[in-house]
Amino acid sequence: MQLNLDFNGRHVFVFGGTTGINFGIAQAFARQGAAVTVASRKQENVDNACTQLAGIGGGKVHGVCADVRDFDAVGRAFAGAVERFGPIDVLISGAAGNFLCEAKDMSSNGFRTVVDIDLVGTFHVLRQAHAHLRKPGAAVINITAPQSFIPMRYQAHACAAKAGVDQLTRVLALEWGSEGIRINSISPGPIEGTEGFRKLMAPTPEDHATALGHVPLQRFGSLDDIANLALFLGSPYAGYISGALVPCDGGGALESVKPALEAAGHAGLRP
Ligand code: COA
Ligand code: NAP
Repeated sequence: MQLNLDFNGRHVFVFGGTTGINFGIAQAFARQGAAVTVASRKQENVDNACTQLAGIGGGKVHGVCADVRDFDAVGRAFAGAVERFGPIDVLISGAAGNFLCEAKDMSSNGFRTVVDIDLVGTFHVLRQAHAHLRKPGAAVINITAPQSFIPMRYQAHACAAKAGVDQLTRVLALEWGSEGIRINSISPGPIEGTEGFRKLMAPTPEDHATALGHVPLQRFGSLDDIANLALFLGSPYAGYISGALVPCDGGGALESVKPALEAAGHAGLRP
C-alpha cells in the first residue's frame, strides 16, 4: 500500500538506490511520476535497477556507477544527472556497508571501510549535491539505522558511523535551513527481504524469532513502510520538518531497551 503524492516534474536522486530499501524508495518516487536517478558501485546493480524503473511511472530514469568513497566520482554523478533532469528536488543518501565482528577482532581497515562508506560517503554525497539542490524547496533524506543511537554488539564501526550520519543531518539542517533546504534521517527497523536483514538481524530462523520479539507491533517492516515515509518527508506536506531522526521500526527502538535491562538483572524488572 503506497501513499499517493504527485512528484511529476520533480527530480529524485537516490544514492545507493539500486537494491533493497533504497531501491524500494526509488520505485515509489518513480510510481508518483518523478524523474529518478539511482547510483551505486556495481554496474550490474545499476543496470538492473534502471531496467525495472523504466517500466514504472513516466519512465524518466538515469543510472550511474559511483563509489561514495570517491569524492570526485560522486561530484561527476550529480553533474551528469542534473544535466539530464535539472536541479534535485529530493535527495536520498542511503549507501552503506556492514558486517558483524567484535571490536577486539576488527582490523583498522575493517573499521575504516564502514566509516568511509556510511559516514564519509554520506558527507561526500551531501557536500557534492549541495550546489545542485533546488533552493528553496529541496528535501534531503539520510538513511540511518537504530545503531545510531542504540549500541549494538559486533557493530562498533556501523554504530559510530551512523551516529555521525545523524549529527550531519542535524548540523546541515542548521546550516542549510536558510536556503530552504530540509534534511532529515529515516531510521528503519528490521525490513524483511533486504541484505541488511539477512546479514545482520536474522541470518537463522532462531534469530528471526528473537528479532520479532523486539518489535512491539509484532511484524517486520516492508519496503513500502520506508518508502511511504520517504515520500512524505520528500513532499511539501513535511514542509516544516527538518533536522529530525524519524524511526520507522514498529516501536522496536523502544523495546530493545528491555532485554538489556533484563540481562543486567535490573531490579525494576524482578517479579
Ligand atoms: N569480518 C571481519 N572483517 C571483515 C569482514 C567480516 N565479515 N568483511 C570485511 N572485513 C574487513 C576486510 O578483511 C578488510 O580489512 P583488512 O584489509 O584489514 O583485511 C576490510 O573489512 C575491507 O573489506 P573489503 O572486502 O575489501 O571491503 P569492500 O569495500 O569490498 O566491501 C563491505 C565493503 C565489507 C562493507 C562489504 O560487506 C559491502 O560491500 N557491503 C555492502 C552491502 C551491505 O553490507 N549491505 C548491508 C546493509 S548496510
Ligand atoms: P543493501 O541492499 O545492501 O543497500 C545498500 C546499497 O548501497 C546498495 O544499493 C549498494 O549497491 C550501495 N552501496 C554500498 N556501498 C556503496 C558504496 N561504497 N558506494 C555507493 N553505493 C554503495 O542494503 P539494505 O539492507 O537495503 O540497506 C539500505 C540502507 O538501509 C542502509 O543505509 C542501511 O544501513 C539501512 N538500514 C537497513 C535496515 C534493514 O533492515 N535492511 C535496517 C536499518 C537501516 P552496490 O553494491 O552496487 O554499491
